[in-house]
Amino acid sequence: MSLTDSAGNPVTVSDPAALAYFDQALDDFLHFRGDLAGDIERSIQADPDFALGYAYKGYVGVLGTEPADAAAAKAVLAAYLARANLSRLSERERMHLRAARTLLEGDFHRAGQLLAEISLEYPRDTLALAVGHQIDFFTGSAGMLRDRPAGVMYAWTPEDRHYPNLLGMLAFGLEETGQYDRAEEVGLEAVERNPKDVWSIHAVTHTYEMQGRFARGMRFMEERFEDWASGNYFILHNWWHYALYALEAGDVERALEIHDTVLLTADNAGLALTLLDATALCWRLYLEGHDLRPRFAEQAERWRRKVEPAFYAFNDMHMTMAFVGAGLEQEAEELIRSRERWLATYPPEHLSNVRMTREVGLPVCKAVLAFGRGQYRRVVELLYPIRRRLHEFGGSHAQRDAVLRTLLEAAIRGGDYPLSQALLSERISIKPRSPYNWLKQAQLLERIGETAKAELARKNAARHRSGSAS
Ligand SMILES: [Fe+2]
Repeated sequence: MSLTDSAGNPVTVSDPAALAYFDQALDDFLHFRGDLAGDIERSIQADPDFALGYAYKGYVGVLGTEPADAAAAKAVLAAYLARANLSRLSERERMHLRAARTLLEGDFHRAGQLLAEISLEYPRDTLALAVGHQIDFFTGSAGMLRDRPAGVMYAWTPEDRHYPNLLGMLAFGLEETGQYDRAEEVGLEAVERNPKDVWSIHAVTHTYEMQGRFARGMRFMEERFEDWASGNYFILHNWWHYALYALEAGDVERALEIHDTVLLTADNAGLALTLLDATALCWRLYLEGHDLRPRFAEQAERWRRKVEPAFYAFNDMHMTMAFVGAGLEQEAEELIRSRERWLATYPPEHLSNVRMTREVGLPVCKAVLAFGRGQYRRVVELLYPIRRRLHEFGGSHAQRDAVLRTLLEAAIRGGDYPLSQALLSERISIKPRSPYNWLKQAQLLERIGETAKAELARKNAARHRSGSAS
């Protein structure tokens, strides 16, 4: 039987209920809500030969970055492929199965390319766009974050159910490629059209973050609490963004309150993708000299279960931060050794995480540990050469700023003042509204005895903290 999905794509399926569950799961995926896994399971139960259901299950199995989920999804897809009659499927469905298998084999980059090929032929394939967009995030492919949705806009109309979601993806891509004015324009249109699209809200939030417009960002988020702060599982990450605004405003107490009441609670399942927000927030404060040992220790307790196996270098960085922040340097060291041993076994090059770990993840983890040990020159040696390649292990500019701040802080503490000044000059030239940037500038000037200039820098920080420039 061939039916069509909510965007009009023909689907090979024996039971309309399977397609209904699939459509629901896709809508949930776009909005980070609902019982996504349950709906996919139900779609497969309704039609045990439903190809797109298996492909989708494969995608979701990997995108959570939990190795056990990925292994389970890989086994399910392999069992399906072993018995499936692929000739009865459409070319689009076969391409999805190939992309899912490729992703489950650990080749994020190739999977992203295969999904882009689907979008060329089938620009209204929402699954290919949504999954491809998340893969672009995991691989730090800013250009694709923008161009994947941008390249299919011609095939969509504002009347389409998921048109606002497509705008949200485009807005995030525009933000990650530094096109902030257009990102804000597209993101606000997306939010206007679908206030419950937390990914669109997130795109606008990033835009204000990158522009240093933290007061505007706080207002934007506060006006929309009802839309993003409940009923979805992206809550934690959006709260993390709110906490970043609070830090720029100088409200450390508020940021820690968000950590304690939202980011790291007993209810959290301890998934890597949620844990990293808690750790990233605390690491920013750690760099400023705050002792958050008990909080880091609680995070480390949950990260500890994720040391093996190697799965995603971006998670490894946060794991290391938690161990170092908790004073568990031995565990950080062991994690690094474990990843080195893994690389020494020559895992296949097509695994995206091999390159991510070797080129970026390991140097960053080593730098984080060196920072904890006060070996600031070593931190600079490790991070300075790769500072423009950090996107290769994924995440957003805002998330990777934790690494750039680590480099800056190490340069200052290590007494490398020319480098410190150059890094600060870069930061201020790019983001002149950031109080953090001006406070660091003041700190550096103070250290080199330029007291009057330091005072001016502090005044700039205070002026921007007042929010008047937002
Ligand atoms: Fe974000």
